[in-house]
Amino acid sequence: MGVYGTLILPRLLDLTMRNRRLAHYREQTIGLARGLVLEIGIGSGLNLPLYGRAVDRVCDIDPSPELLRLARNRATDVLFPLSLLRASAEQLPFASAGFDTVVMTWTLCSIAQPVIETGYLVGPKPWTFMYQGSAKKVAYEDAD
Ligand SMILES: C[S@@+](CC[C@H](N)C(=O)[O-])C[C@H]1O[C@@H](n2cnc3c(N)ncnc32)[C@H](O)[C@@H]1O
Repeated sequence: MGVYGTLILPRLLDLTMRNRRLAHYREQTIGLARGLVLEIGIGSGLNLPLYGRAVDRVCDIDPSPELLRLARNRATDVLFPLSLLRASAEQLPFASAGFDTVVMTWTLCSIAQPVIETGYLVGPKPWTFMYQGSAKKVAYEDAD
């Protein structure tokens, strides 16, 4: 990957995602996190300062080493145990069903056919596309 991919793109993404119009959605979403948390697509770590006392540990993944580096810099003040791992949502490096909360903010655009609500914020359409969804743990009966 060239200079654009390693230096410019991660900083551009960080700048875009710091948009103050997103702050309310971040606070609302991260405020629901409890217990052992898996965050998929941490990006530059903008959610890290928003996790509260209800969180026991956060495991963050992202496929981009450059964004993980920015997230690590932002993680110096967090008061909870934190793991930052290079990984993708398609191949999680954890045993299944091990988390109390799974967080994704503005990461689903790279995942096919998610079941979510979509719409636009106030503002010019190409830049204000939003989506939101949540899932609750369900008990499955054994098939056999
Ligand atoms: C628009 S950014 C959002 C970053 C962060 N969640 C936030 O709210 O600021 C999308 C993030 O998803 C990550 N990403 C892309 N494909 C992914 C995948 N397959 N699994 C996990 N993360 C992925 C990108 O590297 C990037 O950090």
